[in-house]
Amino acid sequence: MTEPVLDVHLTPEDAAVALRAEARAGLTAYPKWVSPKWFYDAVGSRLFEEITRLPEYYPTRAEREILLERAAEVAATTGAHALVELGSGSSEKTRLLLSALRDQGSLREFVPLDVSSSALVEAARAILADYPGLHVHGVVGDFTEHLDLLPGTSPRLVAFLGGTIGNLIPEERAKFLSSVRDVLDGGEWLLLGTDLVKDPDVLVRAYDDARGVTAEFNRNVLRVLDRELDADFDPDDFAHVALWNAEEEWIEMRLRAVRPVKAHVAALGLDVTFAEGEELRTEVSAKFRREGVERELGAAGFELHRWWTDAEGRFALSLARA
Ligand code: AVJ
Repeated sequence: MTEPVLDVHLTPEDAAVALRAEARAGLTAYPKWVSPKWFYDAVGSRLFEEITRLPEYYPTRAEREILLERAAEVAATTGAHALVELGSGSSEKTRLLLSALRDQGSLREFVPLDVSSSALVEAARAILADYPGLHVHGVVGDFTEHLDLLPGTSPRLVAFLGGTIGNLIPEERAKFLSSVRDVLDGGEWLLLGTDLVKDPDVLVRAYDDARGVTAEFNRNVLRVLDRELDADFDPDDFAHVALWNAEEEWIEMRLRAVRPVKAHVAALGLDVTFAEGEELRTEVSAKFRREGVERELGAAGFELHRWWTDAEGRFALSLARA
């Protein structure tokens, strides 16, 4: 079997340096925070997969519904030769796009970009097995930093699915969308998945499920800190919190100390204390409206070409032209 090609813009050492710098900044700030990008170690990735199958967590199913209906139209509109996927692509959703591009005869190359080289290699191999002859050119990188060198033959379609853009705050989104626009030539395409503003109870339930899978996913970030930074956080000292911030229109996940906590982060030579009830912010997941998406795309130099939602209007896919 042909092997995937890998470009490495982010080594494990780079990731370790980034984690140390961010953890020091976040754990010495008030309020304290850690970045959601550290959720996805092997355990966290498995828990996220489990979240996508929960009855309360609708975004994955809603986005799949849209793609099932619209992948052929995406392929026909873009005529893309390369599918570039930001965030690892072995999922069923990636395959819906790849198959539609293959079936119309334009597909030549798949370019998945991910921070984890192991996730990337696994995804690339799985795709290669099902799309023989496809050129798979993986990029190990951080989508907020390493877009400058995206390979792929024009016209390219960049897919950023799942609503992950919601993990960025508005200033970060503006910077990110501009950097995507900058690497594309005029006439190339962005397919963007965004979760939509809706009844706060529905939103909160999606991030605070009855079985507690999201709570485990949230607390797992402490195990990542323990392992990667030689820290001694006890996840049982923290309760999962998910709340709707109506002003910012985003879900916030936090970890709340259920008792006073003293932890030592050996790799940083740092002692961290939490008062009882003090919170560590772990994620924002912004929810969108059509006007906002169109405005943000426009500000970055994209033109919104198509806007599709699922039948219930919970989630949107935007097809935008550079
Ligand atoms: C993978 C970032 C899209 O924000 O909905 C799921 C992550 N966090 N449950 C999201 C997540 C809690 C998810 N994204």
